Amino acid sequence: MRTLEWDREHQQLKMIDQRALPGELKWLTLSTHLEVAECIHTMAARGAPAIGAAAAYGLALAAARSRAANAESLKQELRQAAARLGATRPTAVNLAWALKRVMAKSEGFAGSAAELAALTLAEAERIANEDVDANERMAAFGAALIRPGETVIHHCNTGALATVDWGTALGVIRKAHEQGKGIRVLVDETRPRLQGAKLTAWELQQYGVPFEIISDNAAGYFLSRGEAQRVLVGADRVAANGDVANKIGTYMLALAAHANDVPFYVVAPTSTFDHAVASGKEIPIEERDPAEVLELEQDGMRVAPAGAQARNPAFDITPHTLVTAFVTENGVVYPPYEKTLRELKAGQ
Ligand code: MRU
Repeated sequence: MRTLEWDREHQQLKMIDQRALPGELKWLTLSTHLEVAECIHTMAARGAPAIGAAAAYGLALAAARSRAANAESLKQELRQAAARLGATRPTAVNLAWALKRVMAKSEGFAGSAAELAALTLAEAERIANEDVDANERMAAFGAALIRPGETVIHHCNTGALATVDWGTALGVIRKAHEQGKGIRVLVDETRPRLQGAKLTAWELQQYGVPFEIISDNAAGYFLSRGEAQRVLVGADRVAANGDVANKIGTYMLALAAHANDVPFYVVAPTSTFDHAVASGKEIPIEERDPAEVLELEQDGMRVAPAGAQARNPAFDITPHTLVTAFVTENGVVYPPYEKTLRELKAGQ
């Protein structure tokens, strides 16, 4: 299941609307980079690698719709489009990484506007295809770490939906299941937007992986009873020292795993590693609309009293000391991370 598809005939981007799941598998057809920006902002497209690829295709759309008479004018339009797309969400580095990649090709280009448009699309397609390839490689490395019969706790959604296809942490789970390891998954519901209960549960149903949804605050209970042997999460950005920005709640999960001697793995492609930030302290954390917290309903009634205030950080930072290992497309990376992540970058 590919989350994003380029329609060559109409020069449009087809994208799964993640807001409609699990009720409906709905495809959006996008014609402009402004529509892509809106989709990223409103989380029709979400998940670090997926928003990176969507943004790259956004530049391809800007180029396809442009009436620029020459490459220099088109480059100027692409710079503006990149600024707009880059401003949609701050934490996942894949967004800036993908835009930078396409823009580097554009800036270094000499030729016609039509050739530049083709080059922009080719780079977006490369980013998307490389993501799928990286995920398949991570799945193989990660599945080798999982023993038959284990129960894995998973946070947020890191599956095909969060990437271009296959997924990161959920890709590992899927691969281990396909290898016949007989695993089970405890799916953190992932408040407040419930990516686990909605999207991960939906994906696991498609793949036939046995799972149960748990409230986020139940993870410690299962870990303390020895009912989960491994924790697998993705990442939105990894700092040079190995600190991890990921979906809010990841830090508490990592603390609970550490306290119970349960291995905690972060599955992320090298495009998610930001060697320019020394530690998690430098990673910008998106604060979203408090309405996402306040507008929860039960029995048809809003839970929070009228007038209540809320805070809604979308991500948190898990210190590298709580991470057992990183699973990347280039292999499994263990501490000391300052050294091993530097080696990972050097090997790229
Ligand atoms: O706010 P979201 O849903 O875009 O956050 C996504 C996550 O935090 C994922 O866990 C992360 O992107 C890794 S997914 C490949």
